[in-house]
Amino acid sequence: MALVALGVTGGIGAYKSVDVARRLQQVGHDVTAVMTAAACRFVGPLTFEAITRRPVITDQFAPGANADIEHISLASRIALLIVAPATANVIGKLANGIADDFLSSMYLATRAPVLIAPAMNSNMLEHPSVQRNLARLSEQGVRFVEPGEGYLACGWTGKGRLAEPAEIVAASRQLLSPDGRLVGRTLLVTAGPTCEDLDPVRYLGNRSTGRMGFAVAAEALARGARVRLVVGPTPLEPPAGAEVTRVRSAREMHQAVLECAEGADAVVMAAAVADYAPADGARPGKIRKGSGALTMRFERTPDILSELGRRRAGAALPVLVGFAAETQDLVQRARDKLREKQVDLVVANDVSLPDRGFAADTNAATLVTAEGEEDVPLGTKRALAAVLLDRMETLIHAPVAS
Ligand code: CTP
Repeated sequence: MALVALGVTGGIGAYKSVDVARRLQQVGHDVTAVMTAAACRFVGPLTFEAITRRPVITDQFAPGANADIEHISLASRIALLIVAPATANVIGKLANGIADDFLSSMYLATRAPVLIAPAMNSNMLEHPSVQRNLARLSEQGVRFVEPGEGYLACGWTGKGRLAEPAEIVAASRQLLSPDGRLVGRTLLVTAGPTCEDLDPVRYLGNRSTGRMGFAVAAEALARGARVRLVVGPTPLEPPAGAEVTRVRSAREMHQAVLECAEGADAVVMAAAVADYAPADGARPGKIRKGSGALTMRFERTPDILSELGRRRAGAALPVLVGFAAETQDLVQRARDKLREKQVDLVVANDVSLPDRGFAADTNAATLVTAEGEEDVPLGTKRALAAVLLDRMETLIHAPVAS
């Protein structure tokens, strides 16, 4: 069966992790326990060693463990990394790329699916910093087993207790044999803003961060799809496993998308593409201020999605999905775009509200198709991506000729 790394961090729930190891073994998996220094204060490494019948990793620099750069070697061999319990501290480290011990280094080094079971005091769990880190990990494709409600070790009653070992093992089973609904399919996803350079120091951009497109890409990867990602300038890291093409302007995005759309089963245009660019390109030298107003002429950029719609011309694939960022008449405008751009589905976003749209970790949207509308309530962008991909799978597998 599979080799599973079980990360154990310093929470009172660490004792339940012994049962997780035992249950994973019972269903035939090999388990290597990786304990943080704090975890060793709650449960002895010997307990895990006896249960897993393998050496337990407790120190990144232990003598004898470095001949093979163990955190890289193990990272490339495992089929799944589970972190249970995951404290607020380790969640913060993983979400922010901090690699100061074996477990956090291995998280960065592995391309295996990652399952995290958070456990902490309810107030800590609800803290915006922890919530932001959880949302960030979710966008990176990490899966979670939600903490349970009940009596907590700190004496409180509330949400934060480590999920039961049986739940953690059930969730891991799903990741070890992914449902594979998109295995063999190729999705092209665009994400982020575009920047239209005005001169060597200035540009016309927009507030897109790429989070929504990355969430769609991560969800598609988790479903077994091959994902090509065309990304405008954003400091955020795209999900691991996607084939990334970086672009800057709408024109560059146009070219990259047409190339990458070749053979794709679906295209999701989540990028916020500039509609206008300077008519004569960027000025070669810096624009100096004068006493009066500045006038520049802008011309339309190619509408990439419309072009894909035209090129498809009656064929069923690729399934085409657009996004409509609107501040008013949400559904009507999305419906107009659906028709004008000849696409299958438009995700309509109200960007005038603070908890959705650009830069937010959450989103709510209305999915508009020729058949009707579906409201997706406020949730993580990853949750919206999951609903979108459910609908797209139906279109990919039983496409309606347009
Ligand atoms: N889009 C595109 N090429 C462009 C502009 C937009 O492919 N040059 C795509 C976007 O990625 C998005 C969809 O078209 O999926 C809708 O973009 P939006 O900017 O909301 O709509 P526009 O058609 O530009 O209409 P308007 O800005 O007038 O609302």
